Amino acid sequence: MKAAVIWKHGGSEVLSYEEIKSPTPEKDHAIVKVSYCAVNHLDIWVRNGLPGKSASFPHILGCDVCGTLVNGFGNFRKGDKVVVYPAVESGVPRVSFSIIGGFSKYQGGYAELIQVPQRNIVKKPTWLTDIEASSLNVSYLTAWNMLERSRCKKGDAVLIWGANSGIGSAAILLAKAKGLKIITVASDKKKVDFAKKLGADFVIDRTKSDVVLSVLKHTNNLGVNAVIDHVGLKTWPVSIEVLKVGGRMIACGTTTGGKATVNIRTLYSKEAQLIGVYLGSKSQLISLHKFMKLKKIRPVIDSIFDLKDVALAHKKMEKSSQRGKIVLKISS
Ligand SMILES: NC(=O)c1ccc[n+]([C@@H]2O[C@H](COP(=O)([O-])OP(=O)(O)OC[C@H]3O[C@@H](n4cnc5c(N)ncnc54)[C@H](OP(=O)(O)O)[C@@H]3O)[C@@H](O)[C@H]2O)c1
Repeated sequence: MKAAVIWKHGGSEVLSYEEIKSPTPEKDHAIVKVSYCAVNHLDIWVRNGLPGKSASFPHILGCDVCGTLVNGFGNFRKGDKVVVYPAVESGVPRVSFSIIGGFSKYQGGYAELIQVPQRNIVKKPTWLTDIEASSLNVSYLTAWNMLERSRCKKGDAVLIWGANSGIGSAAILLAKAKGLKIITVASDKKKVDFAKKLGADFVIDRTKSDVVLSVLKHTNNLGVNAVIDHVGLKTWPVSIEVLKVGGRMIACGTTTGGKATVNIRTLYSKEAQLIGVYLGSKSQLISLHKFMKLKKIRPVIDSIFDLKDVALAHKKMEKSSQRGKIVLKISS
């Protein structure tokens, strides 16, 4: 089968499009013919390698899969359209799970065929295209979980960082449908316009305005009920600063670095809460599908690349020039 493989950690040049052996079916596992696989920042972390973590090579990236079942099991039939819930047991105490195509033992979806545990198979929503369905299993699921954990109610104010990102764009669409007041952050005119189109109530261009002052201006100096933070080091101090009393900061990512310096006194004097989110459960993925159907929400797709051009897709994400999800076409 054709796959994009990495044989070592490094830049986008380590992605090698080649012919490799197809997976051999294992007990209690399903093989999926992958049609589309969305790109996530995790793919870049794994490609680069993280301190103390290494993939076993050759490794296939890709955690956001839509495709067709090659063989049936249980209530699923051969040829059924499915998506893959990406979390598997981590085997590490005090770590919830690991991700297919990430640092887990499972190869990912940058390949014509993928083998995953049968329990990770979820029926593809019929009203979405394969491209759209491949985009929901990671960013949208995480954004959905973050919003649930924020416990925000209709009318509450939420600050969402990185409007153009996978997580940011998903959070804006879902928060809008939940009736939240959305303040978001972007870094150029095109991204500001994109955020407004998604439904944000206020968009702060962080290259032109101070984020803390702008949030206070839009919230009568009260601050926000919750912050959706996937950026990490650069944004954590601001995220805590803009919370209102009793506010919740929901964190899931470290795009700008994983060790932030924050004002602890600010956190406790507001009686604020800091909540970490790691993906979401399979049942949350199914409730996300239902919610999106009910609210007629379709994921925003930035671009589609052929698998052989995967390096270009990674470069686009690394430049942060996408607006919504970047998706790889794997097979037809
Ligand atoms: N915990 C989990 O389960 C989970 C799940 C999914 C993703 N994640 C993590 O969440 C993060 C986002 O993932 P993604 O796929 O959505 O990534 P992405 O699409 O690559 O987004 C990166 C975003 O970071 C923003 N950003 C970069 N530097 C910034 C700064 N100094 N200040 C403010 N914003 C800044 C960018 O905004 P500008 O273009 O405006 O700079 C861009 O919107 C990644 O770290 C990923 O690993 C975690």
